[in-house]
Amino acid sequence: MVEYFIPKWEEIEEGILYIVEKMVNDNFIPDAIIAVLTGGVIPAKLIADALGVRNIKYIDIKFYKGIESRERKPVIKAVYVDNIENKKVLIIDDVADTGETLDAVSNIITMYNPSLVRLATVYVKPWSRKYPDYYYKILDKWIIFPWDKWEVVRENSQAPVDKKEKYLEILSKLKR
Ligand code: PRP
Ligand code: MG
Repeated sequence: MVEYFIPKWEEIEEGILYIVEKMVNDNFIPDAIIAVLTGGVIPAKLIADALGVRNIKYIDIKFYKGIESRERKPVIKAVYVDNIENKKVLIIDDVADTGETLDAVSNIITMYNPSLVRLATVYVKPWSRKYPDYYYKILDKWIIFPWDKWEVVRENSQAPVDKKEKYLEILSKLKR
């Protein structure tokens, strides 16, 4: 059975501030932020706002078909990136699991010749092939983020998340 870790918003906010403080202590203020769609969007928005960075680009990439089930490689769906040549860039995602997504995104971004690339995720799995420069915690469980709980419930109606009854009611109407 899959073991879940279900962070509350308070934990996410704490994690974001932990990461942002490290960046500020390092004197690292990026010129541009790359949000890894879709899970990285909310951490990217929170970190961007905390640092006062308005310049956010996006890479749309998908690796997981469901809980602990992946494609062979991450599939890059679209790249919404421009004007990062000679800029300091920060790539943000919610989690590094195998590390393949970060690897693929870093490779794409490097082709744009930024002056510096750093990586941040809220969580990282101990087995990840790539460790971000900034992360909050190392965790070995399947994480259900506040922003992907309904995706998880659609796959597993037994997933132990808040407000599930209301969502399942909505889902049954959606499927009619
Ligand atoms: C998840 C997560 C990371 C990636 C991490 O994204 O948001 O982007 O997997 O896994 P990895 O380190 O093994 O590559 P997913 O592919 O599920 O797409 P999503 O963000 O749109 O949910
Ligand atoms: Mg993702």
